Amino acid sequence: MKIRVINGPNLNMLGIREPEIYGRETYADLEAFIRRSAQELGVDVEIFQSNHEGSLVDCIQQALGAADAIVINPAAYTHTSVAILDALKAVSLPAVEVHLSDVQSREAFRRMSYPSQACVAVVAGLGFEGYRRAIQQLIAL
Ligand code: DQA
Repeated sequence: MKIRVINGPNLNMLGIREPEIYGRETYADLEAFIRRSAQELGVDVEIFQSNHEGSLVDCIQQALGAADAIVINPAAYTHTSVAILDALKAVSLPAVEVHLSDVQSREAFRRMSYPSQACVAVVAGLGFEGYRRAIQQLIAL
């Protein structure tokens, strides 16, 4: 099973950005965690990060025929991007949305997610562990 993990804007700043919310571990630490989890769970993983909405749309489109499922943390685009929702609908691959923080208990604008309408589940508030849970949910499907 091949899983494409897609991370959105500012996640490359993990460890520096708002550590009281996102912790002190870096984006490289997150990548290492995802690779370790994938290996333990017996799946292949490809990891992509971009700060650009169109690049995230391209990456979702290119998953068609190249991956079996998607794990996506659209970051701030969660709350604004119809284009990411449409791309997920277009490829129609099973997808799980992940957030490091508990978006439901933060500002009101973070409670709304466009991409979740095309996802089988949302995992939020578990930090890095959320990515492992998302992969587990996709395997279970
Ligand atoms: C986030 C939550 C979003 O609201 C925020 O814009 C992010 C990160 C998270 O992982 O908790 O950049 O997706």
